[in-house]
Amino acid sequence: MPAGPGDVPTLETPRLTLRKVEIGDADLRYAMRSDAAHVRHLLVRPAADLEEARARMAWIVRDVTLRGSKAWTLVVKDGGERVGQVAICRVDLENRSASLAYELLRSASGAGYGREAVERIVRFGFEEMGLHRLQAEIDPANERSRRLVEALGFSHEGTLRGSRAFEGGFYDDAIYAKIAG
Ligand SMILES: CC(C)(COP(=O)(O)OP(=O)(O)OC[C@H]1O[C@@H](n2cnc3c(N)ncnc32)[C@H](O)[C@@H]1OP(=O)(O)O)[C@@H](O)C(=O)NCCC(=O)NCCS
Repeated sequence: MPAGPGDVPTLETPRLTLRKVEIGDADLRYAMRSDAAHVRHLLVRPAADLEEARARMAWIVRDVTLRGSKAWTLVVKDGGERVGQVAICRVDLENRSASLAYELLRSASGAGYGREAVERIVRFGFEEMGLHRLQAEIDPANERSRRLVEALGFSHEGTLRGSRAFEGGFYDDAIYAKIAG
């Protein structure tokens, strides 16, 4: 695995630059996570304030430095606006597997940026990190996210019923995965 912990190379797609996340992206994180419609499928409470978003960004930066996750902020080449974040997280080196995370500002959704960015990090995960398996855990009601990974060749392997506890209820996780090759 050539890319070691802390190493997050800048990646390019036709319309986006993907650069390593930084604490200064807390405002973007807050803009996404304070939007109730955005967090609906994530099973998290909307972020209360910028401080909470900054604490979460700090956690992500530490996860990249210490545990080998890769996390990028998406910057639109035309104009330089930051529109979202994507990550390869829960990296399991022994089994060469990891999970995907991706989210966009609602104002930037529906333009294909999500698919463009996720396609690029999937390629990075297989070709440059040497991963064998990439997984996405998706709220079964999150149609757009399911379509996104299906379009990239992920298969629905099944659904973990009642596997996530949130605010007194239990929720399902649809498991999608793609294998190298
Ligand atoms: C899930 C999420 C990342 C999808 O991002 P997105 O950019 O809207 O998704 P896509 O890249 O698939 O593009 C969506 C639409 O743009 C359309 N589109 C417009 N221009 C396009 C272009 N140039 N290229 C590709 N698609 C384009 C596509 O047709 C697609 O429509 P469809 O969803 O009806 O098929 C985003 O909705 C989001 O952040 N949701 C909240 C957080 C979340 O749920 N994250 C996932 C957790 S598992």
